[in-house]
Amino acid sequence: MKHERQNMKSEIRKQGFIVLLASCILLLSACGEDNAVTGEDHGNIAASESGIILTQGEHEIGWGKAACFDCHNTENIHQTDRTGTGLNLEAIEELTKDGGLDSCATCHGTNGVE
Ligand code: HEC
Ligand code: HEC
Repeated sequence: MKHERQNMKSEIRKQGFIVLLASCILLLSACGEDNAVTGEDHGNIAASESGIILTQGEHEIGWGKAACFDCHNTENIHQTDRTGTGLNLEAIEELTKDGGLDSCATCHGTNGVE
């Protein structure tokens, strides 16, 4: 009896491991797909104290740089509303396509550029 129970336990542990492994693989593959479909993901950027206005702390790598397109591609930003406020993403896209680099500061602030 005892022996049987131990076998059961190790079987359950084995199954648990397989489930864990499978969800890891799923997570990894979902991640790759996510990037292609939903664009850059920095979470809900509106939730920070300064909202969508950039601060040095939130934007260490890009701070003080005016050439946003060196690192951000218009095709890959503003793809998913993570603020949950019902953003008009098409309107934002239109603004960034028409206004180019000059449009960014309208919503994201100066980014430390004088
Ligand atoms: C040298 C590369 C680089 C440049 C240039 C750059 N960024 Fe970024 N940006 C990043 C990186 C990397 C992140 C991800 C957050 C981080 O690690 O700092 C980011 C994140 C962001 C975010 C999300 C911020 C958040 O709260 O998570 C916004 C908005 C943004 N950038 C806008 C801009 C704008 C507007 C410009 C131009 C004025 C710009 N970026 C220029 C690299 C850059
Ligand atoms: C009309 C306002 C507006 C303009 C103009 C604008 N953005 Fe944004 N941006 C937003 C909002 C709102 C978000 C948060 C998006 C979300 O959560 O879906 C955002 C998010 C981002 C992010 C974070 C990644 C993402 O897609 O959520 C980056 C990077 C970014 N913007 C870069 C830029 C750059 C570069 C420009 C200029 C070409 C620009 N933005 C112009 C409003 C704007």
